Amino acid sequence: MKITVVGAGGNVGSTAALTIAQRDFAKEVVLLDLERKDGEKTFYPSKGRALDQWQTSPIHLFDTKTTGTADYADTAGSQICIITAGVPRRPGMSRDDLLSINADIVKSVTENLVKHSPDTIIIVVSNPLDVMTKVALDASGLPKEKVMGMAGILDTARYRAFLAEELDISPKDIQALLMGGHGDTMVPLPRYTTVAGIPVTQLIDTDRLNEIVERTKVGGGELVGLMGTSAWYAPGAASAQMAEAIALDQNRIFPCCAYLDGEFGQKDICIGVPVKLGTGGIKQIIEVELDADEQKLLDSSAGSVRSTLEDLKRIMEK
Ligand code: NAI
Ligand code: 2OP
Repeated sequence: MKITVVGAGGNVGSTAALTIAQRDFAKEVVLLDLERKDGEKTFYPSKGRALDQWQTSPIHLFDTKTTGTADYADTAGSQICIITAGVPRRPGMSRDDLLSINADIVKSVTENLVKHSPDTIIIVVSNPLDVMTKVALDASGLPKEKVMGMAGILDTARYRAFLAEELDISPKDIQALLMGGHGDTMVPLPRYTTVAGIPVTQLIDTDRLNEIVERTKVGGGELVGLMGTSAWYAPGAASAQMAEAIALDQNRIFPCCAYLDGEFGQKDICIGVPVKLGTGGIKQIIEVELDADEQKLLDSSAGSVRSTLEDLKRIMEK
C-alpha cells in the first residue's frame, strides 16, 4: 500500500503522514510539497519532514518508509492520496480570494495525482472542506465512491473529547454522530450519541449538552484563537484513520464528506454523512433516520455549502 500526502510540508499533512507511518499499515508514505525559496537558498520541507519522520522508526518501531518529494512522478501508483495543500487566509485577503486560490490549488493537485495514480482514492482535507471535496471530485473524473472529505471524524472527536471531560469518563466509551458541513452549520445529533450504549441525554441535561454542542461547532475557531493558526494533531490523526479504514478494508462507520445523489434529500453536493469505509472507498452511505428538526438543520447546512459552491462558480466565471 502506497499513500501520498500532498501539502505534507505543512502541519496537517505531516501529522497525517507520521500517524500513518506509526500505525504501520502502509508500505510507503510519500510526502509531497512545494520547494521553498528564501533568497539564494532552496528548502525542501517535504523531504526534511519525511527524513525526520523516518528517523523515528527505530523509536516508534514501524517499517513504513516515509519519503519526501516535490515531483508528482514519485507519487505514481498511490492507492490513497490525502490532499492538505492550501494557503491560510492572510491579512487583506478576502474570503473570495481564499476560496479561488484554494480551489485552484486543489484542482491542480488532484489533476496531477490522478495523472500518476489513475485508480487512486482521494481524501480531501483542505478548506473550505465540503466545497474543496466537490472541486476534487469534479477535477478527478473518479467515481463518487473514491473521493471524500475529512471533517466529521474530527468534529466528532472534539465532541466526544468534550463529553468525556464533562462526564469524567473515558473518551473510548463515547459514540457519536455529526452530519452536515464542516463549520458552524454542522449538525450534531445528541439522539445518536451514547456512552457505552446509554443515551447521552440520560447523563447530561439539555442545557449543558447544548453548550457542549455549541463549543463543538466552533471547535476549530477555539484552537485558532489559542494558537494563531488552525489545528493539526486531531485533523492529521482523523485523516490517517480514514486511510487506515480503506487500506485494511475495515468497514468502519464514520461521518465523512461524501457526494450525495438524492440521499437525505440532497443532490449534487458533497457534505458530511455517515458512511461505511473500506476497500474501494465509500461502500455505503448510511441513511439514518432524521426527525423534522434534524432534517431542517441538515437542509440549512447544505444550503450554506451550496451558496459557497455558487460563490466559487461566480468567481471562476469572472
Ligand atoms: P499549512 O500551511 O501548515 O500547510 C499547507 C501546505 O500546503 C504548505 O506546506 C504549502 O506549501 C502546501 N501547498 C500550498 N500549495 C500547494 C501546492 N500547489 N502543491 C503542493 N503543496 C502546496 O496548513 P495546515 O495547517 O496543514 O492546513 C492545511 C489545510 O487543511 C488548510 O486548508 C486548512 O484550513 C485545512 N484544515 C482542514 C481541516 C478539516 O477538518 N478538514 C482541519 C484542519 C485544517
Ligand atoms: C478545524 O476545524 C480550521 O477546519 C479547521 O480545525
